[in-house]
Amino acid sequence: MAVLPITKYGTPILRKRLEDVTEFGEPLKKIVEDMFETMYEVRGIGLAANQVGIDQRIIVLDGGPHYEGCEKIALVNPDIIESSGEDAMIEGCLSIPGLEGEVIRATEITIKAQDLDGKEVLIKATDMQARIYQHECDHINGKMYVDRVSTTTRSLLESKLKKLQKKTEQDLR
Ligand code: CO
Repeated sequence: MAVLPITKYGTPILRKRLEDVTEFGEPLKKIVEDMFETMYEVRGIGLAANQVGIDQRIIVLDGGPHYEGCEKIALVNPDIIESSGEDAMIEGCLSIPGLEGEVIRATEITIKAQDLDGKEVLIKATDMQARIYQHECDHINGKMYVDRVSTTTRSLLESKLKKLQKKTEQDLR
């Protein structure tokens, strides 16, 4: 297992719709193990594959003891097929360190996905778990929470985002 570096805001892969997973063998399981190890290392509760530079539709989640119902799980090719309700909550992101903003999201969702063996799974999630899924499913579609904050919040975050983007671009050079 390995802790992988987290891609930061401004890294092109964070803005890409990731590729479908088609191979369900050992390499996939290894990626998922590394994603969990990386997420635990930085004390995250969810992680998408492009946050560790991998172009495959994979997300992992583990809310730990603080968030009931957010048990450890990895989903492959997840797709939110139903959503309802609405709730606002402050979010942050491992790829956007130091910033946060309020995001309105659905409170109940249904996800169609595959497990690590390629078996189709249907998952219903509510509240915090639903929120983490939505945040991570956004990631694999190239979207980030800062795209969903109010225009007021966005303008407050804008200069810091620009700074972060610049730093990332310099680091990638
Ligand atoms: Co994030």
